[in-house]
Amino acid sequence: MTFNSGPIELSLEIAAERTGDIAPQVYQKLFARHPELEALFVRDTTGAIKGEMLARTIEALLDFIGPRAYARHMVQTEAVTHEGYGVPREVFPAFFTAIADSIRDVLGDDWTEDMKLSWQAMLAEIAFFAAHTDQKIEAATAAP
Ligand code: HEM
Repeated sequence: MTFNSGPIELSLEIAAERTGDIAPQVYQKLFARHPELEALFVRDTTGAIKGEMLARTIEALLDFIGPRAYARHMVQTEAVTHEGYGVPREVFPAFFTAIADSIRDVLGDDWTEDMKLSWQAMLAEIAFFAAHTDQKIEAATAAP
């Protein structure tokens, strides 16, 4: 792990306390940056699919910064699965960036330099695994 997980955990806790649901901010940021992606959710008439995807992604994020029991592989497999949905491989990590930026906005002045640097390093590692989906690749080679 090339980052300190404590500041990320703390930022997620504070955000969860302040806003019950960050889904609106996250998808608003994602679609503002990649308008073409919104049409991919055509089946999501109630928002349940987007809500579920965000919930599973945050769960995976907590595993990735913690025990890393499955999240690395999930990022690798979902990056491939999502190409089937029409999500270009290089765009896939943008969902994590939209989450990070939404947390930053919710925290406002409570967003620390430590949080910023830890999130940045974590996002770089996730982008590495989204780009390198060979499950045999070792974490040690992830550091840019
Ligand atoms: C720009 C990024 C992403 C886009 C545009 C996107 C889009 C989608 C779409 C269109 C679906 C299918 C919805 C349907 O059933 O009609 C989906 C499903 C899903 N997405 Fe994403 N996704 C993104 C990133 C992620 C990430 C980062 C993760 C977690 C690592 C993730 C996890 C899932 C899961 C678990 C499902 C449910 C079905 C499955 O397992 O494939 N997605 N996503």
